[in-house]
Amino acid sequence: MHLVVKNFMGFMFALLLCATASWAADPERGARVPDMVHSPPPDRTEYIDEHIQRMFRTPHAVLGDGRTPFSNGMCVRCHGPDMDMFFDPASTPVERMNQPCLSCHEEGARRHWRGSRHEASGLACVNCHELHNERKRLLKADTQMEVCTTCHKERRTDFLKPSHHPVPEGLINCTDCHNPHGTTGPRKLFATTVNETCYTCHAEKRGPFLWEHHPARDECINCHDPHGSLHRPLLLARPPLLCQQCHLGSHSQQALTGGVTDFRIQGQSCVNCHSQVHGSNHPRGNFLQR
Ligand code: HEC
Ligand code: HEC
Ligand code: HEC
Ligand code: HEC
Ligand code: HEC
Ligand code: HEC
Ligand code: HEC
Ligand code: HEC
Ligand code: HEC
Repeated sequence: MHLVVKNFMGFMFALLLCATASWAADPERGARVPDMVHSPPPDRTEYIDEHIQRMFRTPHAVLGDGRTPFSNGMCVRCHGPDMDMFFDPASTPVERMNQPCLSCHEEGARRHWRGSRHEASGLACVNCHELHNERKRLLKADTQMEVCTTCHKERRTDFLKPSHHPVPEGLINCTDCHNPHGTTGPRKLFATTVNETCYTCHAEKRGPFLWEHHPARDECINCHDPHGSLHRPLLLARPPLLCQQCHLGSHSQQALTGGVTDFRIQGQSCVNCHSQVHGSNHPRGNFLQR
């Protein structure tokens, strides 16, 4: 088996060189010739060889699996009949590059790829995936954090803040909340609403509660930043300021205006008394106090 594969690789490599050599002869396509054709430095051939070998160690190279490219036309299944696809991504239409991938992967998690913001923004599968590599899920970098923050730089900043979901620590991932391939929910969230997403891990916040707090029922992000914040725990602002964004009545107002201060406000945070900000099931839990 090993020998067969070796021979096969040699064959494909020769084929590849033939294909690229013919591009070089074609003035129209001259600009697209990969630089390896022009007097390849000795280590370039080695690099290409290593590159091809890595493909053989991926799930795409499983010959015994009837669904893989290797049992459906081999290299040309992705690189196209002329073996020209993916060598010059900058001048290949994104649609064309995504086509072979979608022809096998449009089901499942990619059901909503078409029409998603990533698709509409002209992203290619190969913006996040690298096919000749041995990383889990064939990602371009070791962590999702690295893959996503090459574009979403502000998310990198968020996750560096003192209070953050433990993504940098590797306890959860972007894809525990988002499906980067698109969803029917808002913001590529895998669930249909923000709250349904949060409940998958914070089930105790789902309720129903005897005493509900309207903003928690509405959307957790009324008070929390889902990624990271300067205020623990992931709060958009520190109480009392957080609470005063909506509550301007009675003792809350006084803290805001700095006028005559109600004894209940002095030196205290709202949550010292209203400890059940997410809702309460205590028979006497009105005003979210217990
Ligand atoms: C001929 C069909 C076919 C084509 C074309 C194809 N794939 Fe796959 N792909 C598969 C199969 C089969 C698997 C293995 C799935 C499994 O094990 O459940 C796979 C697995 C994957 C995986 C998961 C790897 C892992 O470690 O779990 C990714 C990511 C992927 N493909 C992306 C792509 C991208 C991007 C393209 C286009 C450049 C592409 N595929 C082209 C059939 C294909
Ligand atoms: C914005 C980045 C991004 C883009 C663009 C992207 N992917 Fe992915 N893809 C990911 C990440 C991250 C994972 C890993 C998910 C996980 O580990 O659960 C993944 C996983 C996969 C998997 C394996 C797991 C599964 O869901 O079956 C396949 C197959 C796949 N992608 C195919 C594609 C195809 C085909 C395209 C282009 C139409 C594409 N991806 C575009 C980020 C992306
Ligand atoms: C599943 C799709 C897929 C299959 C199968 C595949 N390739 Fe690729 N290949 C790609 C993509 C996408 C790239 C762009 C870089 C990357 O993602 O690794 C690429 C890049 C390359 C490169 C360019 C390396 C460089 O950096 O210039 C070579 C050479 C290559 N492939 C040869 C082959 C050969 C030979 C085979 C068959 C043994 C093969 N590929 C099979 C998708 C595929
Ligand atoms: C190549 C650049 C690029 C990469 C890599 C990338 N994105 Fe994006 N992403 C975009 C662009 C462009 C938009 C649309 C921006 C906008 O409309 O503001 C977007 C939008 C989004 C949105 C908002 C979508 C919506 O429907 O409102 C989410 C969520 C998102 N990306 C998550 C991710 C995740 C998770 C990853 C990593 C798996 C990732 N992105 C990787 C470019 C990228
Ligand atoms: C705990 C769940 C969770 C995790 C983990 C998570 N996100 Fe989000 N993300 C959300 C929610 C909820 C929103 C919607 C926020 C809103 O609408 O204000 C969002 C929004 C976004 C947006 C759109 C923001 C905008 O203003 O348009 C991007 C981009 C994004 N996330 C990227 C990422 C990336 C990249 C990662 C991983 C590094 C990640 N997210 C991890 C829950 C999460
Ligand atoms: C995939 C699981 C998962 C999802 C989904 C999730 N979280 Fe978390 N959340 C965690 C983990 C893990 C922690 C850290 C717990 C710890 O450190 O003890 C955490 C912690 C928190 C904390 C406390 C942070 C601190 O500094 O103590 C808040 C607040 C929070 N999450 C809100 C949310 C909100 C809002 C959503 C929905 C947008 C959400 N979570 C979705 C897993 C999740
Ligand atoms: C009205 C503002 C507000 C809303 C809305 C809100 N939270 Fe909170 N949350 C807080 C405050 C304030 C704290 C800190 C409580 C404390 O210090 O006693 C907190 C703490 C947390 C914690 C960490 C401590 C704990 O109780 O486990 C988690 C997890 C959490 N919230 C998840 C959620 C989820 C999930 C939602 C949506 C269902 C949500 N929050 C909606 C204000 C809010
Ligand atoms: C996004 C707006 C919003 C934020 C932020 C907010 N609340 Fe509320 N709160 C409401 C609404 C709406 C009601 C319901 C008012 C009603 O029914 O009259 C409410 C009701 C209450 C009640 C009365 C409950 C009852 O039984 O009548 C208390 C106490 C309360 N909030 C405390 C807080 C505290 C403490 C904070 C800060 C941790 C906070 N709220 C943050 C919108 C908010
Ligand atoms: C020392 C305890 C204490 C603190 C601190 C406190 N409250 Fe209250 N709050 C109460 C009690 C007790 C009630 C029950 C009704 C009453 O006595 O006025 C109440 C009632 C409320 C109500 C419902 C009735 C109304 O007046 O609208 C809201 C809303 C409220 N508090 C918000 C807040 C906010 C916001 C803060 C922080 C700025 C805060 N509370 C700080 C004890 C406190």
